[in-house]
Amino acid sequence: TPRVFSGIQPSGNLTLGNYLGALKRFAAKQDEGVETIYCLVDLHAITVWQEPEALKRQTREAAAAFIASGVDPSKSILFNQSQVSAHAEMAWLLNCVARLGWMNRMTQFKDKVAGKNAENASLGLYAYPSLMAADILVYHATMVPVGEDQKQHVELTRDIAAKFNHDYGTEFFPSPEPLIEGTATRVMSLKDGTKKMSKSDPADASRINLTDDADTIAKKFKRAVSDPEPLPESAEGLTGRAEAKNLVNIYAALADVTQEQVLAEFGGKGWGVFKPALADLAVAKLSPISTEMARLRDDPAEIDRILGRGAEQARAIAQPILERAKDIMGMVRSL
Ligand code: TYM
Repeated sequence: TPRVFSGIQPSGNLTLGNYLGALKRFAAKQDEGVETIYCLVDLHAITVWQEPEALKRQTREAAAAFIASGVDPSKSILFNQSQVSAHAEMAWLLNCVARLGWMNRMTQFKDKVAGKNAENASLGLYAYPSLMAADILVYHATMVPVGEDQKQHVELTRDIAAKFNHDYGTEFFPSPEPLIEGTATRVMSLKDGTKKMSKSDPADASRINLTDDADTIAKKFKRAVSDPEPLPESAEGLTGRAEAKNLVNIYAALADVTQEQVLAEFGGKGWGVFKPALADLAVAKLSPISTEMARLRDDPAEIDRILGRGAEQARAIAQPILERAKDIMGMVRSL
């Protein structure tokens, strides 16, 4: 069976972007006859400073968000990265395959150090994409559901796999595909239709957090930036209207319909009609998730048990693949 792998950084509040671009789709993949492995990538999170207590809390909270979004630990492997040492070990092997020039082309690194002194970024932040390649390749995963912003990293993973196979004269690593599907592969900020909705945006009003209550969600949509025109009658009318397009896309993804279906209902209507409808829909879809997250927050021991069991299952797949990679590279195994 084909294997799906994806990950989320436990580096703060998860957003509606993470839910629509990732979590909701992770849950759907469980019923498609594929093996699903989902990871809280704490080793990625520490590429920028994390308060130790906050990292623990955020990791448990992100695990709760997975479960509340429908990722079922009896159907999927759910674990945190640092409990499976094969990730870090494989990352080192791949660090020696990947080229500096490839890392230098990564736009996410450039964005993250923009306006700051790059000399002061951690070495881990720079090497981050090669750890991400290790995450995927150490399971021989071929399907990687992600949002648009991770596409370049999955493409880099393909390049690393191909160079390893070429250099060592093997077909060992399969080439993974980024799965970027649906209308919410790039959910934008509610305050600026040209910026990605992000958990690290300092403006809380720019995003919907999975932990926001109904009032907050309604307020944030009401105050979301839109434009003076009513909604267009068809999807072509969204061209050049970044904010309008974003709000329509969010509605479509939440309701599991197309842009055209949303516009068939709301085309010609004003924001005073659409925004409250969007807020109601978002509250209806998100409040069961935040309620379940709150329930799980009261039982951290249960979360830790789930992650421990997941880590065990993950190790059982990753360890033999890591051992074979070392063998291919010429390292003596005394087994
Ligand atoms: P991260 O933690 O930034 O985001 C987790 C997932 O959410 C998606 N996403 C979005 N989708 C749509 N609209 C948005 N505004 C939005 N914001 C975030 C991301 O595309 C991602 O799918 N490097 C990864 C984590 C990672 C990973 C991996 C992913 C580590 N190893 C291996 C896949 C496979 C990251 O930082 O995602």
